[in-house]
Amino acid sequence: MSDLQLTGGKEQLFNTDIRQQIDQWIAKYPSGQSQSAVIPALHILQDAHEGWLSEPLMDALAAYLSMPTISVYEVATFYTMFELKPVGRHKISICTNISCLLNGSEQVVEHITSCLGAGLGETTSDGKFTIKEVECLGACCGAPMMQIDRDYHENLTVEKIDQILDGIS
Ligand code: FES
Repeated sequence: MSDLQLTGGKEQLFNTDIRQQIDQWIAKYPSGQSQSAVIPALHILQDAHEGWLSEPLMDALAAYLSMPTISVYEVATFYTMFELKPVGRHKISICTNISCLLNGSEQVVEHITSCLGAGLGETTSDGKFTIKEVECLGACCGAPMMQIDRDYHENLTVEKIDQILDGIS
């Protein structure tokens, strides 16, 4: 269990630190528009919950932001940066959109999945990596590229991929 607290009603699902972080985002928007903070709030919750969002967390966030539960689910399921099931310690997001595709993303996928022994959408048996296929990450001039956790890695080659993966503990 992470540092989240299940101490009462849905509003109590977050600990003080998480509530303060979310409140800072809510304060950036006009009064009564707390739902505008949903994306940063989902990031905060995901980071604090071992990299994924459970249904109780999303339900609690909807209550906290005074917005329909379905709207939180819509956001969380639309963006590939949010995870709805447990993930490995590191997340590899490989862009396969047009610029990356034209510059070799198929080879990137093939190399990474065969090296790690896990396919797209899967987690390695040691729980170290989850591999995902994602849409354009806005780094097209560095194609082919991937994101590992928060870091972008561009102009990938097989040798470069091996170096990057070897450097991750
Ligand atoms: S197409 Fe891959 S980053 Fe844009």
